[in-house]
Amino acid sequence: MTDPHSDLRLAAEGGAPVRAARLPYGRQQIDDEDIAAVVGALRGDWLTTGPAVEAFERALQPVTGAPHVVAVSNGTTALHAMLAAAGIGPGDEVIVPAMTFVATANAALYCGAKPVIVDVDPATLLIDPAAVAAAVGPSTKAVIGVDYGGQPADHDALRAITDRHGLRLFADGCHALGATDHGRRVGSLADATTFSFHPVKHIATGEGGAIATADAALAGRMRRLRNHGLSQTAAERERAGTFRYEMAEWGHNFRLTDLQCALGASQLRKLEANLARRRALADRYARLLAGVDGVEPLAVRPGVEHAWHLYVVRLPRDRWAVDRDELHRLLMAEGIGANVHYLPVHLHTFHQAQGARVGQCPVAEAAYAELLTLPLHHGMSDNDQDDVIAALLKLRAARGR
Ligand SMILES: Cc1ncc(COP(=O)(O)O)c(C=O)c1O
Repeated sequence: MTDPHSDLRLAAEGGAPVRAARLPYGRQQIDDEDIAAVVGALRGDWLTTGPAVEAFERALQPVTGAPHVVAVSNGTTALHAMLAAAGIGPGDEVIVPAMTFVATANAALYCGAKPVIVDVDPATLLIDPAAVAAAVGPSTKAVIGVDYGGQPADHDALRAITDRHGLRLFADGCHALGATDHGRRVGSLADATTFSFHPVKHIATGEGGAIATADAALAGRMRRLRNHGLSQTAAERERAGTFRYEMAEWGHNFRLTDLQCALGASQLRKLEANLARRRALADRYARLLAGVDGVEPLAVRPGVEHAWHLYVVRLPRDRWAVDRDELHRLLMAEGIGANVHYLPVHLHTFHQAQGARVGQCPVAEAAYAELLTLPLHHGMSDNDQDDVIAALLKLRAARGR
């Protein structure tokens, strides 16, 4: 770290950057045990649809609090398989929050259904149950609560609505592996919950995903859908000594390989330590940011144990002389890999062309103008985090109001 006090000129204006090498907002940690696990799978008989898949799924059961886990190729296919297995199809509507990655809404589109995009709570940016209740109509079939940033949505409030109307309650837990709400694990709070093992997440398999559920029938259908809709997998055929298989329904190839599952199982053994480090860094951010004007962390719901995939702050517009985009640019120049999660779904070109309106989700839109994701990952040191604070203080001195 360069001493930030030695040169208070912004890096974007010729000063020395706080960091020479950019600190990413998220990244994986791969150790020798992970490498050995993948090598072991490479030496085995199955590169895909083999024993490592079942072992990874079993290892995810206690973490998600769900008796059935189905591993798939990524978090997006997890969402797709979940909705398809529940019979969501053309003419149906699926309620999703505006503040999420586009994949949540895309999953409804893959099934021929319509995503209905609703607003979020201003303090947490989690789906607003009141907005969900107002959006339920005759075609609504399901609600997907997104555990934005790693914090469980209020699935109990959502459950009251879905029960009242006979809807499915799903969770997009792609940010929230290992989070809990009043001691109940993400994976057990909805009818089914999706996860992603993309490298910026808590555990990495390159690409990878899974669905956790207590619904055996739903799990069975998801297993079939991930394998072309076939009645038997290659391993089952091998065990039965038969060549026969039958396509019972139209499915896809959403399979996760044994190489990836071996890596996933090895990564999973470090999940608790990763979560502990992320939680310690988040606590430390909260303490340090209390001393930085104009940088406000999001609220955490009572009873929640956050998984801290993202550390999102708001930069209130009236506290800065320049807008968020400019602050992001200045921070990047200081070597701090800040990010923005997310442009609200309905503001994307595609959804605008489909008739979504600016002003449809005012809370998410106002938040978007002020949001910034600060670097947070379990490989980060306290010194890395001090660099983020030093850069923010530099920006404060140069552009604060
Ligand atoms: C909330 C959310 N849902 C779904 C996904 C899709 O996951 P994947 O990238 O594994 O397809 C992501 C990915 O970042 C996400 O953030």
